[in-house]
Amino acid sequence: MAVAFYNHALIYQRRKADIDGAIMRVLSSGRPDWGPEVPAFEAEFGASLGAAHVVTVNSGTAALKIALLALGIGRGDEVITVPNTDIGTVSAIHHTGATSVFVDVDPETLTINVEQVRAAISPRTRAILPVDLYGQPAKLVELMDLARAKGLHVVEDACLALGARIGERMIGTLSDVTCFSFAPTKHLGSLGSGGACVTSNAELAGRMRKLSAYGQDRARHVLIGGSPPPLHHETEGLNERMDEIQAAILRVKLSDVAESVATRIRQADIYQKHLSAKVEVPLAASGTLHAFRNYVVHMDNRDAVRAGMTARGLATALSYAPPLHLQPVYDFKGHREGAFPVSERSGQRLLGLPIGPHLSDAQILEVADGLLASIEDASVA
Ligand SMILES: Cc1ncc(COP(=O)(O)O)c(C=O)c1O
Repeated sequence: MAVAFYNHALIYQRRKADIDGAIMRVLSSGRPDWGPEVPAFEAEFGASLGAAHVVTVNSGTAALKIALLALGIGRGDEVITVPNTDIGTVSAIHHTGATSVFVDVDPETLTINVEQVRAAISPRTRAILPVDLYGQPAKLVELMDLARAKGLHVVEDACLALGARIGERMIGTLSDVTCFSFAPTKHLGSLGSGGACVTSNAELAGRMRKLSAYGQDRARHVLIGGSPPPLHHETEGLNERMDEIQAAILRVKLSDVAESVATRIRQADIYQKHLSAKVEVPLAASGTLHAFRNYVVHMDNRDAVRAGMTARGLATALSYAPPLHLQPVYDFKGHREGAFPVSERSGQRLLGLPIGPHLSDAQILEVADGLLASIEDASVA
């Protein structure tokens, strides 16, 4: 590919010395587990967001599941969410035993439609799970107001939205629990897998921490005088913790996040300037800062245009299409085509373009020119 969607090797090379040093520090510490890196990363990540409590876990999917479980959500409960998302969002709900209830999204932002949420609330509803799709914050202020009025929780899927804001408030400070992913392709990418639950509620943070760690306090795993303290189990949990090596790597990469988000915003601006006369481009909703984890345009003859891009060596992606209610795994929910028209229309027309700090502005322009040429070719074909 002349322009690749991701380039993990390049991103690693830029911080190679620091990343190698961080990995070696863990390897030579003799503390591959329950060491100092995880708590240090949690403190540093929380400080970067202005958030009180961070509980790291081993994926974004785990973050969502643990947040829901810690809120006591399970069998018989309903969680309202969207179909135009990663399967991790919905499988996290199902792994608690709860039922997912889909509602459609707003056409302008492709995030959850608040009025449809209101209409979908039933006596079994326990939580709303909005997704900050592609880095665009969902309407979190309105959703939190609705949730407070109805006695519900908001568990936010911000796996794509690190660095986004509503007004001056960072994503990570607006909902009951904000869940992040540190998959390698995200704004803050580990070299494996990782995630975090962020909350201002100390008691909830304690429950999430225990749940992710066998149901036990961290103190029970830290060697005292070289030996473990005696086992003492009062609750069950999972083993879904972040590991020391990923935490050490993330501590290095955390210092690049602000610049990486700024790069994406600048690249989105270049795309917008070159494409908006001919293409439906994404725009940040008023009063929000879009973190542009994905740059997704929409067009009618998407498949032909995509073929033109591939022929030109320009990578593209179908970012979360088709929507989940039309995927075989969710046949059992009984939704047919037409159930969520905004998500479906987006799924048929969307095309993700490469964006991110692995790309130069010249490459962004090459993609933009290639897109315009591919649209031209598709319209005469
Ligand atoms: C919107 C969304 N939610 C959840 C996830 C799951 O995150 P992870 O892959 O870290 O489990 C992702 C990851 O791609 C995502 O994009």
